Amino acid sequence: MTQEPQNIPRQTIEKQVNVAQTGDNNTQNNTFILEAVKKAAIPFSLPPSNVTFFAGRDGDLAKVHSLLQQNQRLAVSAFVKGMGGVGKTELAIQYALGHVLQEYRGGVCWLQTSSDLALQVKDFVRVQLHEKVPDDLDTGVKIAAYCWKMLADRLANLAGEGCRFLVILDDVKADYEQAIRPYLPPMDGGFAVLATTRLELGQAMQQYRLDVLAIEAAVDLLKSFLGPEDRRRAEDEAIKKLCEWLGRLPLAVELVGRYLARKPDLTIAQMQERLNQKRLLQDALTDQQRRALAEMTGKLNILAAFELSWQELSVGAKQVASALGLFALAPLPWGWVEAVCSAMDAETLENIRDEELLNLHLLERSEQGMYQLHQLIREYFQFQLQQNPTQSSTLRQQVAAFLLTIAKGIGQTITQEQNSCFCPRHPPPRPAQPRDARRYCRPRRGFSLGFSGCCQVL
Ligand SMILES: Nc1ncnc2c1ncn2[C@@H]1O[C@H](COP(=O)(O)OP(=O)(O)OP(=O)(O)O)[C@@H](O)[C@H]1O
Ligand SMILES: [Mg+2]
Repeated sequence: MTQEPQNIPRQTIEKQVNVAQTGDNNTQNNTFILEAVKKAAIPFSLPPSNVTFFAGRDGDLAKVHSLLQQNQRLAVSAFVKGMGGVGKTELAIQYALGHVLQEYRGGVCWLQTSSDLALQVKDFVRVQLHEKVPDDLDTGVKIAAYCWKMLADRLANLAGEGCRFLVILDDVKADYEQAIRPYLPPMDGGFAVLATTRLELGQAMQQYRLDVLAIEAAVDLLKSFLGPEDRRRAEDEAIKKLCEWLGRLPLAVELVGRYLARKPDLTIAQMQERLNQKRLLQDALTDQQRRALAEMTGKLNILAAFELSWQELSVGAKQVASALGLFALAPLPWGWVEAVCSAMDAETLENIRDEELLNLHLLERSEQGMYQLHQLIREYFQFQLQQNPTQSSTLRQQVAAFLLTIAKGIGQTITQEQNSCFCPRHPPPRPAQPRDARRYCRPRRGFSLGFSGCCQVL
């Protein structure tokens, strides 16, 4: 069944739902917007934002918007080369939420570049528009082109202002020309493409460089983790110094903010001292280790924030964290973690997840039963695992054995449960087709059966 394009005027949407963003925090505002998007039946896919207080990006959001009006393709990169955790992905999420009702009523499609792009676009039209894609399209590029055409035709029927379509490509890595460009929508006024990347994309796209937070925004962000009555909020100078020391990187400020929230008796000066100590310990690393760590963020101080959080973890939690770091960067069913860490019972694992990893913001819940690591934290967990070769090899074997067990259970024809397990964001489309099964099970980099984007033993 084809869903009729909805062309609800902006004023009607605004009347239906309060989109003036009157919530107390970012989460409430986002809920208002998501309700309005649903009511207006705008095709929309976006990962959840876990940020309660979105600090200091008004200028960047406005600049990105203005650049996207002038260019159809824009990449948000970090001001400092290689800098993770600066807030590129979060900026893209907030941009989409802030503009979907005014500018992108044609739809918003989030694409994770680590997974099969054609499959994601196909899933988007299937789930959001209830449209089928013919089975005889034999390449990913053809599938993507077919889907974009379908979306372009739909846009053409949505006459009126504010009916553009936003495509977000998160975390563009090398090989943009070969691996990404062929899957993008046509260069026409209806589509805007916003990418995030840690790289220089050369001439491929207009680039907007995102800097670390302004000092006032970093201070506000850190304070947002302290309760309204917390006396440490008054220590402005010390907090400022601390935020500067952390390079004003949102992820680092957030980790330290959560650490402080867990330790109400720790002063800001004591916190700084603990971080200094961790920084000193890093001086004892070998050059090679230091290089590996510095590559992650470009700033060694930030790693001290990771170290402090790591040190907070119990032995069991460190083991779970190391196992998590071995899976690819994608939402992960918690059952898989239970299977790999089978020496611990389900309740212990649940406590580790909720009381330690989620609480310290080392893990995010992406949806029911699904969890995901931040890329930078995953890299840090991998680094920690490398320091312990025996544990590393045992864990790798456990993960590999588990994945092979799953792989062996996949026949020529994939079942609905298997489908939803590998593509958990969307419900299974229809009884599986052998053609789909071949695509899901296409051999991929050394693995006899592919878990496209789901897992990868390093
Ligand atoms: N402006 C902000 N206010 C509050 N929190 C933020 C802000 N920007 C980012 N964050 C937090 O910092 C974390 C890191 O941000 P994000 O994932 O967007 O970084 P990134 O630049 O995409 O990193 P990477 O290159 O590793 O993908 C997020 O989990 C989010 O919680
Ligand atoms: Mg990112």
